[in-house]
Amino acid sequence: MISFFGKNRIFKGNYAAFSPYDRLALKMIVGSIDKPFKRMIEIGSWTGNGSTTAIIEELHKGDGLLYCVDTWKGNRNVKRHQDMVREYDMFGTFMHNVAKARGQDFVKPIVMSSEDAASVMSDNVFDLVFIDADHSYDETLKDIRLWLPKVVPGGIICGHDCEARPEDAGRERLVRHKDEDSIDGNDVFVRFHPGVILAVDECFESGCHLWAYDDITLDDGIVGKSAIWDMKKS
Ligand SMILES: C[S@@+](CC[C@H](N)C(=O)[O-])C[C@H]1O[C@@H](n2cnc3c(N)ncnc32)[C@H](O)[C@@H]1O
Repeated sequence: MISFFGKNRIFKGNYAAFSPYDRLALKMIVGSIDKPFKRMIEIGSWTGNGSTTAIIEELHKGDGLLYCVDTWKGNRNVKRHQDMVREYDMFGTFMHNVAKARGQDFVKPIVMSSEDAASVMSDNVFDLVFIDADHSYDETLKDIRLWLPKVVPGGIICGHDCEARPEDAGRERLVRHKDEDSIDGNDVFVRFHPGVILAVDECFESGCHLWAYDDITLDDGIVGKSAIWDMKKS
């Protein structure tokens, strides 16, 4: 059967972009929301195998909804995304992975750009907004500014790929590469995302919690770091 996007191949390979440490950090953030019904939205879902399934696993423990906003066209400045979009049905891949994680009853996909989706959503409705779309500085800044008003007071805005504070990553180098998806990282993170690091710092300064500065211990005892950032809305 040909899909909505004109292709019928589901991507079943390994796409590593969300580490076990990111999974655990995001699950801990979702678990910290003390509400019987959690209304959440993620901006940027891609294959559905990373942040989406991490949140689904938490939703299996309680009640709630996860809206997933994506164009499923991939990030314009990530060649690997564009190659996959040419070859695979990425929305079908997302739905396949959501079904595999038994999330189809509470995951609500929204095939829209971040900007278009934000324009039709009310303010103060989501207990959690997770941002993981285009990682350039301008787009990340735009996403944070578009989606922060959608978070309920006391709710959480968070996202992926913030590996350090600018002063620790070398602000000058970050600024030089701010339109790129990522650049070489350090011993802990293979890649840094300059746009995300700069945009998160500009919006929240040191008020934002970066999991990169904490140790995270997996069930098997292995200790590592996550590139998740999170901030409680006052
Ligand atoms: C880094 S991937 C998301 C990864 C996913 N959160 C995970 O954990 O695997 C970024 C996604 O954002 C989407 N995207 C990029 N720019 C967007 C925009 N302006 N509006 C909506 N989606 C966008 C891309 O299509 C892509 O699927």
